[in-house]
Amino acid sequence: MTAADSSANRGPAPAPQEVGAMYDRFGDLLALVLGGSALHVGMFVPHGERVRAASLLGLSDLAQDRQTEYLADVLADGLPPDARLLDIGCGTGGPALHLARRTGGRVTGITVSRAQLARCGERLSAAADLRGRVDFAYGDVLRLDHADNSYDAAWSIDCFPHLADRPAALREVRRVLRPGGRLLMTEFALRGTTVPVETEAFTQLWASPPPTAFATLLAEVEESGFRVVRIQNMTSNIALCGELMYVLYRQRRDEIEQRFGKEATAHTDPLMEPFRDFCRDHVDYYLLLLSTPES
Ligand SMILES: C[S@@+](CC[C@H](N)C(=O)[O-])C[C@H]1O[C@@H](n2cnc3c(N)ncnc32)[C@H](O)[C@@H]1O
Repeated sequence: MTAADSSANRGPAPAPQEVGAMYDRFGDLLALVLGGSALHVGMFVPHGERVRAASLLGLSDLAQDRQTEYLADVLADGLPPDARLLDIGCGTGGPALHLARRTGGRVTGITVSRAQLARCGERLSAAADLRGRVDFAYGDVLRLDHADNSYDAAWSIDCFPHLADRPAALREVRRVLRPGGRLLMTEFALRGTTVPVETEAFTQLWASPPPTAFATLLAEVEESGFRVVRIQNMTSNIALCGELMYVLYRQRRDEIEQRFGKEATAHTDPLMEPFRDFCRDHVDYYLLLLSTPES
């Protein structure tokens, strides 16, 4: 890989504090167009399953829950009992609680958003069965405040797309995982030749740098010392997620303007259509299950 291919050179990227500030400010708005159960791409295309949702927002929540459950099943496979687990970019906490229940392990969730941390705390207070097994803290994956070898496994659902320096984050995660520890991450990859106005809409709404080619992602994974256990292409889901966010934004635009002000809608209105088109035409979406060396 040449220096020019590195994700560190992919263009302007927001600092972790800026990403946190975006979630602090627009977290409630995101819930209006994505649902409240989580903050990630949902699994809209399960095979053979037919569950009716009562509304479009309900459909989005259903798809997000399905994705959380699927990813937890993948990570849980082969974990020791009482596993120590790290949720990197834990959002509003729902996936971390599910992971603790699914695995029986202890989960620490970190995020760079204080508003999300407050929501995580509320969710945890309502989960009497998980007291003492889940905790949440402010934390930046680029400088983890955790000892070497302190986790059996980690997951990071839709957090890596935000990062300015993906190789640095991979090295940090590798450091805190024990030998043979696993990282499940989801990440975007760029497809085709893009139009600047669409790239700009995507990076603004996502508070992210532009995605890289899949080959760049793989090269960075290998250079960081992780071994690839499994790769799964889940691209069809991101096109549907972008479409649904676009439709829900249009349906709820007046409510959004009332709650967040004319300045917010004036900013977002022109971004939604190119954002949807970019998601549909240029973003591939992958699950990667990685492992650190055994010794
Ligand atoms: C798209 S949300 C996904 C949230 C959650 N994983 C879920 O599935 O609902 C991205 C999350 O990554 C977090 N994040 C972004 N940059 C981060 C960083 N440098 N360190 C830790 N968390 C970060 C955000 O605060 C947010 O919680």
